[in-house]
Amino acid sequence: MKKSPNLIFHILFLLLLISPSVFSWKKDEFRNCNQTPFCKRARSRKPGACNLIATEVSISDDGDLIAKLIPKTQENNESQDAPVEVDSKPLLLTVSVYQDGILRLKIDEEQSLNPPKKRFEVPDVILDEFLSKKLYLQWLSEEKIDNDLGFSSVVYLDGDYEGVLRHDPFEVFVRERGNGKRVLSINSNGLFDFEQLREKKEGDDWEERFRSHTDTTPYGPQSISFDVSFFGADIVSGIPEHATSLALKPTSGPGVEDGFSEPYRLFNLDVFEYIDESPFGLYGSIPFMISHGKARGSSGFFWLNAAEMQIDVFGTGWNAGQDKIMMPVDEKRIDTLWMSEAGVVDAFFFVGPGPKDVIRQYTSVTGRPAMPQLFSTAYHQCRWNYRDEEDVFDVDSKFDEHDIPYDVLWLDIDHTDGRRYFTWDKVLFPNPEEMQNKLAAKGRHMVTIVDPHIKRDDNYYIHKEASDNGYYIKDASNRDFDGWCWSGSSSYTDMVNPHIRSWWADKFSYGNYVGSTPSLYVWNDMNEPSVFNGPELTMPRDALHFGGIEHRELHNVYGYYFHMATSNGLVKRGNGKDRPFVLSRAFFPGTQRYGAVWTGDNTAEWEHLRVSVPMLLTLGLTGISFSGADVGGFFGNPEPDLLVRWYQLGAYYPFFRAHAHQDTKRREPWLFGERNTELIREAIHTRYMFLPYFYTLFREANMTGTPVIRPLWMEFPAEEETFSNDEAFMVGNSLLVQGVYTQRAKHVSVYLPGEQSWYDLRSGAAYKGGKRHKFEALEDSVPAFQRAGTIIPRKDRFRRSSTQMGTDPYTLVIALNSSKEAEGELYIDDGKSFEFENGAYIHRHFKFSNGKLTSSNAAPSGAGGNKFSTDCTVERIILLGLSPAPKSALIEPANQKVGIEMGPLTIRHGNSPSFLTIRKPKVRIEDDWTIKIL
Ligand SMILES: *[C@@H]1O[C@H](CO)[C@@H](O)[C@H](O)[C@H]1NC(C)=O
Ligand SMILES: *[C@@H]1O[C@H](CO)[C@@H](O)[C@H](O)[C@H]1NC(C)=O
Ligand SMILES: *[C@@H]1O[C@H](CO)[C@@H](O)[C@H](O)[C@H]1NC(C)=O
Repeated sequence: MKKSPNLIFHILFLLLLISPSVFSWKKDEFRNCNQTPFCKRARSRKPGACNLIATEVSISDDGDLIAKLIPKTQENNESQDAPVEVDSKPLLLTVSVYQDGILRLKIDEEQSLNPPKKRFEVPDVILDEFLSKKLYLQWLSEEKIDNDLGFSSVVYLDGDYEGVLRHDPFEVFVRERGNGKRVLSINSNGLFDFEQLREKKEGDDWEERFRSHTDTTPYGPQSISFDVSFFGADIVSGIPEHATSLALKPTSGPGVEDGFSEPYRLFNLDVFEYIDESPFGLYGSIPFMISHGKARGSSGFFWLNAAEMQIDVFGTGWNAGQDKIMMPVDEKRIDTLWMSEAGVVDAFFFVGPGPKDVIRQYTSVTGRPAMPQLFSTAYHQCRWNYRDEEDVFDVDSKFDEHDIPYDVLWLDIDHTDGRRYFTWDKVLFPNPEEMQNKLAAKGRHMVTIVDPHIKRDDNYYIHKEASDNGYYIKDASNRDFDGWCWSGSSSYTDMVNPHIRSWWADKFSYGNYVGSTPSLYVWNDMNEPSVFNGPELTMPRDALHFGGIEHRELHNVYGYYFHMATSNGLVKRGNGKDRPFVLSRAFFPGTQRYGAVWTGDNTAEWEHLRVSVPMLLTLGLTGISFSGADVGGFFGNPEPDLLVRWYQLGAYYPFFRAHAHQDTKRREPWLFGERNTELIREAIHTRYMFLPYFYTLFREANMTGTPVIRPLWMEFPAEEETFSNDEAFMVGNSLLVQGVYTQRAKHVSVYLPGEQSWYDLRSGAAYKGGKRHKFEALEDSVPAFQRAGTIIPRKDRFRRSSTQMGTDPYTLVIALNSSKEAEGELYIDDGKSFEFENGAYIHRHFKFSNGKLTSSNAAPSGAGGNKFSTDCTVERIILLGLSPAPKSALIEPANQKVGIEMGPLTIRHGNSPSFLTIRKPKVRIEDDWTIKIL
């Protein structure tokens, strides 16, 4: 940090006086690997330490490959006289195969041997639909690999891949059929270890202490660790949430950078003022890693486990000189080490081979992102706190005065009566319904915060019901867990119990949530859960949940359940008609089905603007497409230059919200002088202009899992130059955006991939792909380009909110490539209900070739009985890259001729260069038509 320690001390002291929490990254609050016994043990293991072999291999009645893992002993060691392993029972291994080449590996203790307790397996994440895609194995073949003395069992995955269980030494991998090249493997470095539960013996000391906290650890050590290798990989990515680069840096072995000697931690934590380059674990956890390489493409590995996890990425050459590794040493690969405190092995191997294939495969297991309501894809205005109704109306009307659209106004914790959620402060917000209705009249919505800490106050109905019914999480001595959070002494409802989730969901009915209206939506904060006086600011690991499950076993999934229950509540309140909107800070695999997430409490610094891009790209790669970072930075006061650059970049985040801490200066868009107001207005307008394109991308994510914003390498997988680029990103397949990350930047260097050109969004100028360009940094926008060969739908008229744009006409921007062709799509529905699932939507495909633009239906025929219809027309078609200039165009089937004139690229920029424009073709967006250039 650049501030003097003295100043920091003073600020800290001041903050401590006014708040119950600590407002600076305090490393000492959190455990490192050395202070985390399971992590320390796992990290100190040497390659080849695993002595397990697979025996009794067979196909089960359920069509799985099953085997027992037992330690190699004198009897079964083919080279004789080995030590006899004590205190270790056989483990049960199951390999199942699912459609799309997915291999699932489970390893657990054998229940028939009566372990002290059943280990926790995470329910409610894997889709039933996925389970129904299981392929029942009929047979397996045996073969000898390398110089093995024993056999390996081989199963069919799909036409191109096979799964292999090597018996001795035990290893599981996926390989290409035919050439036998490995794709992904587990235990190739022999680091597998499974600490089996055992009865406590005299003298065993299982307690773990950290700072002033003691974890009773009643079941003792039960961790699992293993190595995973990604073959042909140049980079690995994923495993959010960390504030770090998209391509994960090594944390062990050669090439470890300063600050990266800890493993990537996955443990949902409320980290005040997190730092921007660190493997430290933040608010959410997704144990899914995706690899990418020029030679083969992508593969993915997912471990469904909700306990604390730590993951090392090894630098190349980490195991040099080790003779116990079993794989071909000459192959390019990245090795990783996965360590978890508890649970079972439930791992999924995804073969790709393209990046989009891996995400399709991963989201076929954990679910595709929900389709959001249209309004929630527009701009959100938030602050801790809009003080009272007057403040709300003032902010609302100033947006109109300054001609800036926005869709949602947010209320943070202080809108409530003493931080009792579902209530309103009667003095500050006496008429909440009227307030919401006033905003709703302009097509605007409200979001209120609902956190999981429930104030322990007998006069508070939520607390009363929860405590009377025994709905709270229990502490280690089986009393209601009582911790400190925003509401003071608080308890936490046990969302793991479906009955309690259903009770919670009912609290959102209009009758129960007094003062709520249909235009009110919800925000779940602090759901890691945050406990100010708990170990590492969270719940003790020995707290107890429904079914006797220890908090340590499911910590990372708690916030997911809370988000799920809230989201279900919003569906329920409207009798299942409207799509919910719930923003969550904590997340887990599957969160994409319940709503959006944001990257938590970032800081108003350039580095935080910069790191928001890899953070959001990583979330997208791991299924969570609808994500954003607080525009402006939550902590601190951004200088105007930073704030403007943040809006310009944030306009392309999938979730676009400005937010600020209560101690920061007010920073609504019009508070920084006329020029800055103009620049911010421009940035927000850009988002509204592209809403039809964004909404189409949200639908693509909903159908396929492909994220709204993407690393360049997802669209240009063979271009090595893109692999480490996380300053720029693709919005869909058609737009490339590059942030400006330094103060008063003069120039920006942008790498434009591919063989085709790119059209600057502002000037319309074409730039060659496949090279790096140096651009002047313009004040009024960040560099953004439309890829040649694409068609982007826009709405160029500006209203107060997205809702008011409903019937506005469209603009189509056609960017031609070298073969004078382009294509694109547009998805439209009512923006609100679930009717689109019954076919009530419009999906158009636009194609320009041979001098003719054709609009055709892209919806599958018979896509449900319902219809969605709109009178929207196309008002402008802009043609980039067409020469010589044609004079007119013929519209079919109307058989009508229209003139082609020169017009500006965006209507706001009358002085920008002119481009060929077909004005008022007046074709209806939902019809089939062609426009032939004459
Ligand atoms: C098997 O026996 C060989 C030869 O004595 C020995 O070197 C090796 O360590 C033994 N392996 C195991 C796993 O015990
Ligand atoms: C798309 O979103 C809807 C609404 O959120 C959801 O019900 C549906 O399951 C999603 N589609 C797929 C293919 O998962
Ligand atoms: C131009 O774009 C069209 C439509 O996207 C595509 O089919 C065609 O292959 C592209 N041509 C070249 C040379 O890339």
